[in-house]
Amino acid sequence: MGTIVVTGSASGMGAASAERLRASGHRVIGVDLRSADVVADLGTPAGRRTAVAEILELSGGVLDGVAAVAGVGPSVPDAAAVASINYFGPVELLDGLRGALERSDAPRAVVIGSNSASTVPMIDDELVRLMLSGDEAASREHAASAQSALPAEALGASPSISAYATSKLALAHWVRRTAVTPAWGRRGILLNAVAPGAVLTPLMTGSTGADRDFDPDSFPTPMPLGIFGEPEDIGFWVEQFLRPEARFTTGAVLYVDGGTDAAMRPTAQPSALRV
Ligand code: NAI
Repeated sequence: MGTIVVTGSASGMGAASAERLRASGHRVIGVDLRSADVVADLGTPAGRRTAVAEILELSGGVLDGVAAVAGVGPSVPDAAAVASINYFGPVELLDGLRGALERSDAPRAVVIGSNSASTVPMIDDELVRLMLSGDEAASREHAASAQSALPAEALGASPSISAYATSKLALAHWVRRTAVTPAWGRRGILLNAVAPGAVLTPLMTGSTGADRDFDPDSFPTPMPLGIFGEPEDIGFWVEQFLRPEARFTTGAVLYVDGGTDAAMRPTAQPSALRV
């Protein structure tokens, strides 16, 4: 059994993942804004540094897994904060913990993206580029000014929907690019992403303004299975990606969304290589 970091461990998918991993016998180091082994704000560079330092101390510098689950939803009013928390949070934490993962016999990392990356038609390509370039200050500035250029009344309950979907697309691209670099791939550190759809957590019920009883058939995106996800549906896949036996999968983005992405874009993947 290993030592595994779970961010966002105080609520929703992170709490479900931590509980599942503990039940399987792992030692879990939870990270969150509150009620966690490591209390830190992953939306700021200082908070990430604190988190990395405390995790390294608690773990003795050896980690078998990291599940970067913490994040916010599109109802957060500040698009710059969304960029920092949802993209730079997981990316900088994983960069900071890569060395500790390398000391494990079977190191694994999984991040939580979103099917919004491919189902919300409000991707900001320049923001994707800035995020992947690693420039947090420029990303924040761009996200804030792009948000203020949109009519607030059109955004309703999701004022940062563009920054949200964009942060999750950039994160998925970061995973695919990073997983195959020698520093990860050749060191045996497997890195994958789960892209959830609508999952009943405080984030989702808060951002839609609805309670748990709302109807999948009147949801804004198709829900082919006729159900919403529960946090445990994501915790299940988080655990699978972290297992030592999962040794030949890296750079994957797994949709766990009840079929929403497949319904909206049935031929989008796989896409053919054309030369
Ligand atoms: P949640 O709100 O229940 O849990 C998120 C946790 O992350 C909270 O405990 C929160 O305190 C923590 N967190 C937020 N900002 C933080 C920060 N700056 N530093 C440290 N911790 C922070 O939400 P949920 O739904 O469990 O979200 C988990 C992940 O799933 C997020 O990355 C979210 O964007 C993503 N997601 C959620 C979907 C949904 O339908 N619920 C759909 C697709 C993706």
